[in-house]
Amino acid sequence: MKFLFNLLPRLSVFLLFGVWLIGPVKGQNGKAWFNDKDLMLVGSYYYPEQWPEQNWERDIKKMAELGFDFTHYGEFAWAAMEPEEGQYNFAWLDRAVELAEMNNMKVIMCTPTPTPPVWLTSKHPDVLMVNEDGRTVQHGARQQASWSSEKYRQYVEGIVTKMAQRYGDNKAVWGWQIDNEPSHYGKFDYSDNAQERFREWLEEKYKTIDALNKSWGTAFWSLTYNSFDQVQIPNGKVLVAQPNPHAILDFKRFHADEAASFVLMQQEILKKHISEDQWVTTNLMADYSMVDPLRMKELDFVTYTKYLVAGFDMGIGEQGFRMGAPAGIGFANDFFRPITGVTGVMELQPGQVNWGQYNPQTMPGTVRMWIYHVFAGGNEFVCNYRFRQPLTGGEQYHYGILKPDGLEVSSSGEEYVQVAKELDKLRKAYKPEAKLPPAFAARRTAILYNPDNRWETENQPQTNQWDFMTHLKKYYSAAKSFGAPVDVITEVKDLAEYPVVIAPAYQLLDAELVERWRKYVEQGGHLVLSSRTGQKDREAHLWEARFAAPVHELIGVKEIFYDLLPESRESIVSMDNQSYAWNNWADILEVNNKTEVWATYTDQFYKGKPAVISRKAGKGTVTYIGPDTDDGKLERDALKKVYQRAGIGILDLPEGVLVEWRHGFGIGLNYSSQNQSIPVPAKAKVLIGRKELKPADVVIWQE
Ligand code: GLA
Repeated sequence: MKFLFNLLPRLSVFLLFGVWLIGPVKGQNGKAWFNDKDLMLVGSYYYPEQWPEQNWERDIKKMAELGFDFTHYGEFAWAAMEPEEGQYNFAWLDRAVELAEMNNMKVIMCTPTPTPPVWLTSKHPDVLMVNEDGRTVQHGARQQASWSSEKYRQYVEGIVTKMAQRYGDNKAVWGWQIDNEPSHYGKFDYSDNAQERFREWLEEKYKTIDALNKSWGTAFWSLTYNSFDQVQIPNGKVLVAQPNPHAILDFKRFHADEAASFVLMQQEILKKHISEDQWVTTNLMADYSMVDPLRMKELDFVTYTKYLVAGFDMGIGEQGFRMGAPAGIGFANDFFRPITGVTGVMELQPGQVNWGQYNPQTMPGTVRMWIYHVFAGGNEFVCNYRFRQPLTGGEQYHYGILKPDGLEVSSSGEEYVQVAKELDKLRKAYKPEAKLPPAFAARRTAILYNPDNRWETENQPQTNQWDFMTHLKKYYSAAKSFGAPVDVITEVKDLAEYPVVIAPAYQLLDAELVERWRKYVEQGGHLVLSSRTGQKDREAHLWEARFAAPVHELIGVKEIFYDLLPESRESIVSMDNQSYAWNNWADILEVNNKTEVWATYTDQFYKGKPAVISRKAGKGTVTYIGPDTDDGKLERDALKKVYQRAGIGILDLPEGVLVEWRHGFGIGLNYSSQNQSIPVPAKAKVLIGRKELKPADVVIWQE
């Protein structure tokens, strides 16, 4: 019946126009916009409005000659598109699009909404966001407008509509990016607009103020509200003691919803005017906690931006700070791709940047290795930020594909040029019939993720050493070191697709999820849970029961308590006669007699108690890893035991080495500071590089 309903509109069009409208469906799953045989297209940002017009032709031609397939325009150019209210000027952008087309390059068009022109904010200062100190954020940089301002949204609608009407049918325009890294770069908005929308959000959620009082436990410290109008955005700067954790959790949820609604509103406007051949996305920072990509899954797909070498990450070994950590691009690939099944990289670091803690040079070869890591993660495209090094403005010391003279190719630009050539070679070798090799498929692993767990454990970390993403990435990196293809998934996904599912620090859950986990295991799945799992319900209330009671039966324990140590002390866990140090977090477990103890605490007053446990249930297993260590070795070895006991054949790759598979190509990458040998299968044909890799080198083969 449902089938018939779906068919009816098509049938009527068929009867009217005599055409049968079954073709590639360009919808949520986006895949129809890209061709597998292109493998991955490569692009670079260009800002025509930032350069004299006489440079454009030369620059765009050069971009095409260097091997780029597409460019990117418009992002911050609102003041150039609408220099005064209601006076639009698109002639310059028309010319830039034409130049791209003349040079056979596609264009990603971007809405300029992170940068309102000064005439707008001078006329309507109430569209500006307010920071936690109560100061109004001013014109002078970017992302100063509030997503919650109705007035700002009206102006956004105006400019986005104009752009969509002008370029929505332009064949050179490949797709659209909405805004840029919508995030407010770590700042929350405390403006009256945000305050009002937060109250509306709460009213929508709780309906009555009594329900809010109950859920937030406001009887504690007499916080009880009489009406929604009295509720303030929680702000530590104006409170004498710790804020209500339930208020913070709801505010973080609201903030992420607000970002998503600002982006999705723009998609709705675009879709009214643009052709079906153009896709719509936004670009998000991979590890950013305040914005939740999963809330934007109605976009055609979500892309990400990635900068790995900016003095924040020491990477692996002595030279790791010049390459970044393998989980940087890796996690972003595996996090963004499963959202709609498609992703791309909108910005990839071009070499040295200007905004880091310190800004080292990348090790020669690193940019090329990153591009191949992006390729390995299944991305449809990678865009380099940016083509020309800016001579003025806030990013003067930022590398581009060209040197500051605008003529010579920079060292990292050369690495792009090399990849562009190599990709041509891979396209020729591409075999459409290639299937994921069985050895890879057998170790498919899912990491279950819900931002609530991240927000809530970070609201109440209990120790200065707790960091949710660092905890999660220890498990992610361990699975990658076994050569496992990993998807980071949410609860809506079917777990049965994955032989192994890891749910790190899954603090917030309900009986229904525990039941799904139980069934998954009964039917043969291998479930791994870690520190803090199951302590609270979905609204972050502790259970009126034993601590973490809902998971007791599943993991096979009677009792759990946790301990935390000073940073200066280490305690030891023993597993298979090996010692592992911990001091971040420990769940101390008391087990049932059918539960196998893999590791125990060797000191403290709970010496001899279990730290890592495992049990068989139905056709599968459940393993619980109680401690969080600094180096992740215990977590890795326990996880290794899970795969081995399950009979899943794994690789045992040295730290920093990755082995991936995409579209019939094996890909080996070396993020370590030493030379490494990649386990390329004996009968494979090496297409690029060799299996002995120097740091930051790559090998690609085909079987
Ligand atoms: C980002 C932004 C870009 C640019 C680069 C600089 O992530 O999205 O606009 O500022 O950083 O590295």
